[in-house]
Amino acid sequence: MHDRPYFRPASLDSILIDAAELGFAMSCEDRTGALLATLAASKPGGHMVELGTGVGAGAAWLLHGMRPDGHLTSVETDTTRQAVAIEHLGRDPRVAFENADADAWLDMYSGPPFALAYVDCRPGKFHRLDDLLNLLEPGGLYIVDDLLPQPTWPSDHQPRVDAFLAQLSERINLLGTVAIWASVWLLVGART
Ligand SMILES: C[S@@+](CC[C@H](N)C(=O)[O-])C[C@H]1O[C@@H](n2cnc3c(N)ncnc32)[C@H](O)[C@@H]1O
Repeated sequence: MHDRPYFRPASLDSILIDAAELGFAMSCEDRTGALLATLAASKPGGHMVELGTGVGAGAAWLLHGMRPDGHLTSVETDTTRQAVAIEHLGRDPRVAFENADADAWLDMYSGPPFALAYVDCRPGKFHRLDDLLNLLEPGGLYIVDDLLPQPTWPSDHQPRVDAFLAQLSERINLLGTVAIWASVWLLVGART
């Protein structure tokens, strides 16, 4: 048995070629992406959000799993990175790309509650977790990765990750499972 995905978004290879040209190496890996697609498929008609679009690899996986009536909002500060995502995925009517800082976006969002949040930058993960969780519907899924120590992390990052993991057991608004999956640790939680 192996744990490689048996499905793959059609746009992913082109996105990753453009990512390599940009020198962008932070896209989610395939096994994480397949999990995102599977979780997205479990939320028909759901509104979903990704904080930190990067070049759109995670969005491609989410869209692969989403039903035709799903909606995805993907937020990113870096216009060059997000332009790659828009080029490859922007014609899909289910997705809206927002060029915004996730902190500011958390302040201004007033749309429907989310069925799934994939948080891939600091706001909504290492700070403002409650603000993010308050945007989830009951039973809404919360997914973060990049929790496995990396040699490239700045020295102040491990304490941030440790504090994030340590506070989970005291949360009454999230029931999560931390998993070592592929080369990442991730957390999948449900809003309670
Ligand atoms: C790990 S990468 C995202 C990868 C993408 N989610 C995927 O799965 O392929 C993190 C991204 O978050 C963006 N970012 C960092 N801080 C941000 C913030 N405060 N608001 C929005 N985007 C941010 C970075 O520019 C970077 O492109």
